[in-house]
Amino acid sequence: MSAVLSQSGPQPLSAPSYVRHRRLLAWVAEVAALTQPERIVWVDGSQEEYDRLCEEMVRAGTFRRLNPARRPNSFLAWSDPTDVARVEDRTFICTDTREEAGPTNNWMEPGQMRARLGGLFAGCMRGRTMYVIPFSMGPLGSHIAQIGVELSDSPYVVVNMRLMTRMGRPVYEVLGEHGEFVPCVHSVGKPLAAGEKDVPWPCNPTKYIVHYPKTREIWSFGSGYGGNALLGKKCLALRIASFMGRDQGWLAEHMLILGVTSPAGRKYHVAAAFPSACGKTNFAMLIPPAAMPGWKVTTIGEDIAWIKPGNDGRLYAINPEAGCFGVAPGTSEKTNANAMAMLRENVIFTNVALTDEGDVWWEGMGPAPAHLTDWQGRDWTPEDGKAGRKAAHPNARFTVAARQCPSIDVDWENPAGVPIDAFVFGGRRSTTVPLVTEARNWTEGVYMAATMGSETTAAQAGAQGVLRRDPFAMLPFCGYNMAEHFGHWLALGEKLAASGAALPRIFCVNWFRTDDSGRFVWPGFADNMRVLAWMVDRIEGRDGGATHALGVSPRHDDLNWSGIRFDAGEFERITSVDAAAWRKELESHGELFALLSHNLPPQLEATRRALADRLG
Ligand code: GTP
Ligand code: SPV
Ligand code: MN
Repeated sequence: MSAVLSQSGPQPLSAPSYVRHRRLLAWVAEVAALTQPERIVWVDGSQEEYDRLCEEMVRAGTFRRLNPARRPNSFLAWSDPTDVARVEDRTFICTDTREEAGPTNNWMEPGQMRARLGGLFAGCMRGRTMYVIPFSMGPLGSHIAQIGVELSDSPYVVVNMRLMTRMGRPVYEVLGEHGEFVPCVHSVGKPLAAGEKDVPWPCNPTKYIVHYPKTREIWSFGSGYGGNALLGKKCLALRIASFMGRDQGWLAEHMLILGVTSPAGRKYHVAAAFPSACGKTNFAMLIPPAAMPGWKVTTIGEDIAWIKPGNDGRLYAINPEAGCFGVAPGTSEKTNANAMAMLRENVIFTNVALTDEGDVWWEGMGPAPAHLTDWQGRDWTPEDGKAGRKAAHPNARFTVAARQCPSIDVDWENPAGVPIDAFVFGGRRSTTVPLVTEARNWTEGVYMAATMGSETTAAQAGAQGVLRRDPFAMLPFCGYNMAEHFGHWLALGEKLAASGAALPRIFCVNWFRTDDSGRFVWPGFADNMRVLAWMVDRIEGRDGGATHALGVSPRHDDLNWSGIRFDAGEFERITSVDAAAWRKELESHGELFALLSHNLPPQLEATRRALADRLG
C-alpha cells in the first residue's frame, strides 16, 4: 500500500518496548496512517486482557455472558444477519497472472486490487481501536511454525484469535528484530463518526477477502465472521500456506488429523479432507462404539493439516491451529460427546440460540426447550421450529481451545508432527459415491481427491445442497492454480516412492447416501469407526475387500458389525456402484478437467479414461 508513512515513530504508536521489529513497527504505522484508528492497542495475549475485552464487549452489546453456573466463563455473540459465513465470491487470490490463481479462484490484477482496497481502507477504522495481534500458526518457536500479525478493528477477532492460535507477547520474542511474519489487515469496514453509537456487530455490505501470495499479504474488509476475519485460519494456514508449500515441497490441506489405536495396541495416523461442515470435527473426535472395545481415536487437529516429508520418506502432519471454530448445529452427546465436554466452559458461541436459563441451544443438540431466544434475538418456540425457522443459524459456531478436547492426542503439539498412514477424502453425496473405496495406487488416489464432489452447506454464503466439484476439499482454500495442486500431489508421491518408503493409503468415503425419503442410510458418527477399522485392516495388509471399477471396497462381511444391525440390503444401498450414474459422474470429472486444462497433469485424464473403460 503506498500510503504516506506516518511521521510518528514507535513512541506515538505506543508500541511496548518488547516490540523491536522495525519493519513491523513501520508497517503498523503505515496501516494506522491509512485506516486512521482512534487508538492502537498492542495485544499481549494475557488472560486479564481477554477478560477485559470480553467485559467491554458485554457492555457494548456484542457479547452476552452466559449463566456462569451452567457455562462458566462463556459468551454468546449474535452477528449481523448478513454476516454469517465465509464469502467465497468475495475472496480473491491476487497473483501476478490469472493463470497462477487458476480458474477456480477469483482473481484481480494486484495493482488494481491495491488501488481498490486503498480506497476502502482509507479512514475505515475511524472512531475505533486498532488491535495489533501477533500470533503463531504451529507451536511457538518450532521450525514449522509461521508467524502472522493481524491488525484488526474487531475485539471479537482478538479474543477468538487467542483461542484459535498461539497469540500474544511471546510471539515477539520469536520474531525478534528481523523475523518473517505474514502481515494481515482486517477491518469490519464501519468507521464511527464522532459521537456515533456503535452497533453490536459492525460490518459492511461490501466485502473483500484478499490474498497477495507473492508478498504473503492478507487484506480483509467488511466481515467480522469466522474465516473472513480470523485471518490465521483459512487465509494464512490454507491459502497463503498452500502457496508456500507448493514452492517449498510441502502441503497445507483442509484436513483433520487423528490417531487410531487398534485393540492390539498399534497406532496409526489418518489425515482426512472433507469440505466445510461435512464432518471433520466429528471424525477427528470419534468415540468408538461400545461394542468395539479396544479401539481408540485421538485428536491431533480438526480443520487444517500442514504436511511435510520427513527424512525417512514418510509424510508428517501438524495441526497449525490451537483451537476449534466448530459447527454447533448437529453437535450432541450422541454425535460428538468429546465436543460437548470440550464446550463446558471458556467458550465463545456465535449465532446459537439462548435459553431462558442463560445457556445455549442449537438444532440437533437434543429436545428443544419450550422457549428460546433465537440467533437474531427473537422469541422462538418449538412451533417456530416446526414451521421451519431455525433457532440457531445453520453455520453457528463455537470457539474453544483445543486443549479442552478430552480426546486430544499426546502428540498434538509435537513440532515433528505425526506420521501419516492414510489419507481420506469425503464429500456430502446423497447418491452415487460408495461408503468407502481404497484407491489402488497414489495416482488413482489423487484422482479421487481431485474429482471429489460435495453438496454445499451453510458454511459458505449462497445456496445449500448444490452439488459442486470440491477438489481436495480445497476449492475455497487453494492459494494457487488447482491443476498445479494436483501436480504437486503427484510429484510428492513420486518423490516419496523414490525414497523407498511406503506411501500413505488413499481412501474415498461418503457418509451421506440417502434413501427415498431423504434420510441418511449410514448411521455415521461413532459407527464411522467400522470403516476406520477396515482401513487399519488394509494398512496392516489384510486383504478384506473386493476390487471393482473404482478401487477396493469392503464386502458386508469385511466390516465389524458388532453392536448394530445393518443388513446386506442396507449395505448394498450405500455401497452399490451404479454404472450409468458413474458414467455421468466421469463426464462431470471431464468438465472439471476441461476447466482446469491449463497445467493439468496428463495422468488424471488418463486415469479417467481407464476408469471409463473399466466401467464398460
Ligand atoms: P468446517 O469447520 O466447516 O470445516 O467443517 P467440519 O468438516 O469440521 O464439519 P463438522 O464436523 O462440524 O460437521 C458438521 C455437520 O456434519 C453437522 O451437520 C453434522 O451433523 C454432520 N456430520 C458429521 N459427521 C457425520 C456423519 O458421520 N454422518 C452424518 N450423516 N452427518 C455427519
Ligand atoms: C470452514 O468453513 O471450512 C471453516 C469455518 O472451517 S471458517 O473458519 O469460517 O472458514
Ligand atoms: Mn474448515
